Amino acid sequence: MLVFFLFLLLSLSSHPLSLSLNQDGLFLLQAKRQLSDPDNSLSSWNSSDHTPCQWRGVTCNSLTAAVTAVNLTSLGLSGNFPAAFCRLPSLSSLSLPDNLINSTLPAAITTCRSLHYLDLSDNALVGPIPDYLAELPTLRHLDLSSNNLSGGIPASLAALPKLETLVLVYNLLSGIIPSSLSNISTLKHLQLAYNPFHPGPIPSQLGNLTNLETIWLTQCNLVGPIPDSLGNLARLTNIDLSQNNLTGTIPKSFTRLRRVIQVELYQNSLSGELPSGMSNMTSLKFFDASMNELTGKLPNELCELPLASLNLYENQLGGSLPFSIARSSNLFELKLFKNKLVGELPSDLGSNSPLLHLDVSTNGFSGEIPANLCRRGEFEELILMFNSFSGGIPESLGNCKSITRVRLKNNNLSGSVPERFWGLPRVHLLELSDNSLSGHISNAISGAYNLSSLLLSNNKFSGSIPEEIGLLNGLVEFTAGNNNLSGQIPGSLVNLNQLGNLDLSYNQLSGELFGGIRHLTKLTGLNLANNSFYGGIPSELGSLPLLNSLDLSGNSFSGEIPPQLQNLKLSELNLSYNRLSGDVPSLFANDKYRMSFIGNPGLCGYFSGPCRGSGKGKNWSYVKYIFVLAGVLFIVGMVWFCMKYMKVRKLKKGFSTSRWRSFHKLGFSEFEVAKLLSEDNVIGTGASGKVYKVVLSNGEVVAAKKLWGANANNVVGNVVGSGKDDFDAEVETLGRIRHKNIVKLWCCCNSGDHRLLVYEYMPNGSLADMLKGGKKSLLDWPTRYKIAIDAAEGLSYLHHDCVPPIVHRDVKSNNILLDEEFVAKVSDFGVAKIVNRASQGTEPMSAIAGSYGYIAPEYAYTLRVNEKSDIYSFGVVILELVTGRPPIGPEYGENDLVKWVSFALEQGGLDHVIDPMLDSKYREEISKVLSVGLHCTNPLPITRPTMRSVVKMLQEVTTVTKCRNVKDWKVPYTHEGTSYNNIKEA
Ligand SMILES: *[C@@H]1O[C@H](CO)[C@@H](O)[C@H](O)[C@H]1NC(C)=O
Ligand SMILES: *[C@@H]1O[C@H](CO)[C@@H](O)[C@H](O)[C@H]1NC(C)=O
Repeated sequence: MLVFFLFLLLSLSSHPLSLSLNQDGLFLLQAKRQLSDPDNSLSSWNSSDHTPCQWRGVTCNSLTAAVTAVNLTSLGLSGNFPAAFCRLPSLSSLSLPDNLINSTLPAAITTCRSLHYLDLSDNALVGPIPDYLAELPTLRHLDLSSNNLSGGIPASLAALPKLETLVLVYNLLSGIIPSSLSNISTLKHLQLAYNPFHPGPIPSQLGNLTNLETIWLTQCNLVGPIPDSLGNLARLTNIDLSQNNLTGTIPKSFTRLRRVIQVELYQNSLSGELPSGMSNMTSLKFFDASMNELTGKLPNELCELPLASLNLYENQLGGSLPFSIARSSNLFELKLFKNKLVGELPSDLGSNSPLLHLDVSTNGFSGEIPANLCRRGEFEELILMFNSFSGGIPESLGNCKSITRVRLKNNNLSGSVPERFWGLPRVHLLELSDNSLSGHISNAISGAYNLSSLLLSNNKFSGSIPEEIGLLNGLVEFTAGNNNLSGQIPGSLVNLNQLGNLDLSYNQLSGELFGGIRHLTKLTGLNLANNSFYGGIPSELGSLPLLNSLDLSGNSFSGEIPPQLQNLKLSELNLSYNRLSGDVPSLFANDKYRMSFIGNPGLCGYFSGPCRGSGKGKNWSYVKYIFVLAGVLFIVGMVWFCMKYMKVRKLKKGFSTSRWRSFHKLGFSEFEVAKLLSEDNVIGTGASGKVYKVVLSNGEVVAAKKLWGANANNVVGNVVGSGKDDFDAEVETLGRIRHKNIVKLWCCCNSGDHRLLVYEYMPNGSLADMLKGGKKSLLDWPTRYKIAIDAAEGLSYLHHDCVPPIVHRDVKSNNILLDEEFVAKVSDFGVAKIVNRASQGTEPMSAIAGSYGYIAPEYAYTLRVNEKSDIYSFGVVILELVTGRPPIGPEYGENDLVKWVSFALEQGGLDHVIDPMLDSKYREEISKVLSVGLHCTNPLPITRPTMRSVVKMLQEVTTVTKCRNVKDWKVPYTHEGTSYNNIKEA
């Protein structure tokens, strides 16, 4: 007895202050202990207060001090759902969105008797939606979206008598949508989109839910017709049934939906005509039935609606556009591409509405481009390609400073381009190819300083290329093949250090090839074929690191082929029909390059015998050349045509028939991403693919990485379609990973040779970019230290918390990205493996072992990549953070940063190594972090620490120096263990 009493006393005294905290506060502390709080977000939850009413995220009744609401949005909390919250007797609102709660929904939740509002969206909840949720009699708002909940929607939810909002979007729910949901007569918002349901119909009983205001059923595997009964939903404002397999027609009953503002039906298999009577939908602003099989004409009555956006692209609509559409005074977007529409566009289109986007490409439109599109001065996108528009580009568009994209390819436009149209300041894509435009490229083009793609091929442009082109320093692509351009290439072109593709073939350009071409370090394709260039081929071409396709054929280049060209990784080389002489460099002396050199009678070596004394038979060989030439031209032409044709088809097919899968709640359509990929958005090019920055129509920004496909063999070797299933499996794994220090993979698309990964966009770019150049000053020591810890935690998660562990394979400062608050997130993990898989074949993982300067030394003899190689690479990143120096560079000679650091430490000591930009008051911390880096870059893999201990060592750097209370950190940890067990037993 005495012992028991003592024990009681002891256990009370272990909470000496808690006696003063009220009961609700104690429940909250209990909940806190059930959670893991790595960012210490709940530090204000402190037992020394009397009430919890001032604690972060807690709301109390002002009279009784009873806790009524808990809101812990985005605090990085993880662990089990803290059932202790449900012991708060007055709790009516519980919001824990955007954390990492990873348990099932426990039965204890039924004790949350007063709950009106429950938001657990964006967590990692697993298991089924339990039947017993229906026992929360007062629940009005239930949001479980963006979790990993599985199983069916329980029919019992129908028993919730007051439910108004049901949001289950983005889970792994299966089964079909239960018709019993129609018993929840109070329901206003029904949102079940993005779940892998079994194929099933839209229950027609939903038409009984007369309070419904929004229905969101995107990607729910819906089949069959849209029930007529939905026309009874008199309060409906928003209905989205897109991306399903719905068939039949758009019900006529929809025309009774007088309050409806938005109707999204895109990407189904709806057929028939648009219903008559749409003019009754007097609130309709957004209507999108694109990518269906609709036929018939666009009804005139559309023009009586307050339409702001009308999207009907990729259907089979015919007839002409109602002229009265130009009267719609709200219209900002009109997208009708890929239909069978004919006739002219109304000439006053854009006069009466704030038109921004017009895309009527791939139809049979003719006549002139309407002159008033930009009357309101807001017009941005003019996309008319693949029609039969004729006449000139209207002079008025030259004043339209708001234009950003112009795509007029493949029409019958003629005349010269208005002077001011060349210099539109916001245009980044100017595509005029395949018309009959003439005149000069105006020097006013210098005003188009945002231009990244200038595509002028297959027109009748003449005159010289203006020197001003060199001012467009964002230019990535410049194609003007098959025109009548003459004169020399302006020397200013060497300033275009972003230029990736330059095609000036089939013109009358002449002169010697411009010097300084080595400055075009991003150049991947150079085509100057069939002009009148002369002089030598500059050897500096051989120093262009990315050059992949080089065509100088059909000119008068003379002299020897510079041996430096052998440094290039070329997939295409054509120097034929010039006046080259001397030996063919040995690398090219094989049959693969036979066609690359023909038509150069002075060349000798492999193809034409030894260099001297073969005067005989020369005439013969000319005849032979002519035959060969004819043959080659024919074959090249055919191949070119086929490739072009297939490429276009593949691109279209690849992304539109879609092998998309998404891993998070998306506020955008994946198709939109694919649509917006263009060379002008490229923000980076790496070993595994090209990265695009995509600004979506809703303002959101994502980063899309297009992996090098089967025909981009320049970098990776032969990645072929056989790796497809592996790809899906791998990406599935990557997509499911949620960690605060890992860049989110939103979704991906795999269609064999086109693979696209869509990531969260990180506004501060990569650590590598930050460390380079002027922005380095933003990285003071505390920021760098935090970056090291963040990145280490991300990697540690991959190594230790994923089953099976994920080896990054390409850890480097380029792959550590920074968000707007400089939180570091690891990106691109596993991609090297995906890319490697297909090409693996004989050697183990050898195509990409990481990046130069980061590759662990043992790789040289084991050719294996494992966790220990990641740790080496991470050590290099730490050294970069400490020294502010790049991992490799000419200043190290044969060595790299790792060697440099150990050498510099020996010679000059610590102060010689630390980045001079860092404040010396952190010297001690920096030196400790440096020693972690040295530990990681130990040449012996076995002596390198694990990632988990790297995190710990890095954390200890400050805990010890600042003497932070170690107790604070430890005590809750042990408590967590005990209280968790208590709950379980209870
Ligand atoms: C919870 O707090 C966040 C901001 O932290 C706020 O945006 C959100 O509206 C709050 N939720 C509720 C239900 O009060
Ligand atoms: C859930 O989160 C906790 C705390 O972060 C972690 O320890 C646990 O391993 C996680 N459980 C699962 C199944 O991921």
